[in-house]
Amino acid sequence: MASGIQLPIYMDYQATTPLDPRVLDTMLPYFTTRFGNPHSSSHKFGWETADAIDRARGQVAALIGAGPKEVVFTSGATESNNLAIKGLARFYRKHRGHMVTVATEHKCVLESFAAMEREGMSVTYLPVRSDGLVDLDVLRAAITGETLLVSVMAVNNEIGVIQPLAEIGAICRERRVFFHTDAAQAVGKMPLDVEAMNIDLMSISGHKVYGPKGIGALYVRARSRLKFDPILSGGGQEGGLRSGTLSPALCAGLGAACAIAAGEMDGERERLRLQFDRFVDGVLAGVPGAVLNGDREQRIPGNISFSFPGVDGALLLAQLRALAVSSGAACASAVAGPSYVLRALGVEERLAQATIRFGIGRFTTDAEIDYAVDTVIQKVTQLRKAA
Ligand SMILES: Cc1ncc(COP(=O)(O)O)c(C=O)c1O
Repeated sequence: MASGIQLPIYMDYQATTPLDPRVLDTMLPYFTTRFGNPHSSSHKFGWETADAIDRARGQVAALIGAGPKEVVFTSGATESNNLAIKGLARFYRKHRGHMVTVATEHKCVLESFAAMEREGMSVTYLPVRSDGLVDLDVLRAAITGETLLVSVMAVNNEIGVIQPLAEIGAICRERRVFFHTDAAQAVGKMPLDVEAMNIDLMSISGHKVYGPKGIGALYVRARSRLKFDPILSGGGQEGGLRSGTLSPALCAGLGAACAIAAGEMDGERERLRLQFDRFVDGVLAGVPGAVLNGDREQRIPGNISFSFPGVDGALLLAQLRALAVSSGAACASAVAGPSYVLRALGVEERLAQATIRFGIGRFTTDAEIDYAVDTVIQKVTQLRKAA
């Protein structure tokens, strides 16, 4: 304990968020008394869980400006991305054999594209500028008459920058290609509107939005009449796109998490922006040469990636035990070497190694921010002196 602060301080909100207690309250009955199979249509046990799923579908849809019938429940954003990319590509590849994505996408997107390359499709991986954003002229130039899909993530998980979704959506609409966005890090953190942004497919993750792990969704625009080769086949649930018995508890949890986000997002963003400034300005003032990765304005405030010249990244991470932070994406932390996202931004290898992602969110306090700033300044200064 330090001045009433519980250590370590959780600062890894991009890896996962804690379940909001209100979400848990919504979920609990579906583990006990309301246990019916939502696909059992002949009795009350099935009806009540089917109702819960309908409600949840509406809550997810409302947060992104969609209709309930356009929401397909999955196990998470990984599955949603796989379904969007592989499912669509396998259905349409005979007619259109090219797709476009970005070098800084999450591994589950990049690996889905790599799988389709192995199946004979061609993929263009767009570079990003040093601020982490896609250059729209480069995107325009990459689209050909053969292009089926453009997939650009909404918010980057390592550096927090927001890609220009509305502009990308407009380009895709004009060029008549489908637009998918991996919005795992964006949903509930910033306003998203699938109509205004011309999004055809959007991947959503429950555990990044204070909901449970093991649930996600794929938004599929109804009017685009998209067709897929499903990844999971079976009983034909979720309109045949994703067979398997749905979990009412997990669906209800994702729905509740989305409803809370819809009501509280604006206030939460303002509070997090203040905490972002407090943290970033504090670190910049106390650690000469520290570099904030990604555009400072076009970002969500909860994701703060800092590179610290003159220190060894592994030593720094070891020194920062009081802060539950990450040296990059949690999912890639088993992979040695500097992050491919930072490399794509042009961050040189030594600096990329000395990069820490500080994630702040719903339960972060100002006192925790101040403690974290002091800790970072102290540890970086010590390591620099020892070097
Ligand atoms: C941008 C992005 N896409 C996809 C995922 C995968 O999400 P899930 O854990 O729901 O499969 C993550 C989580 O690490 C992410 O940050």
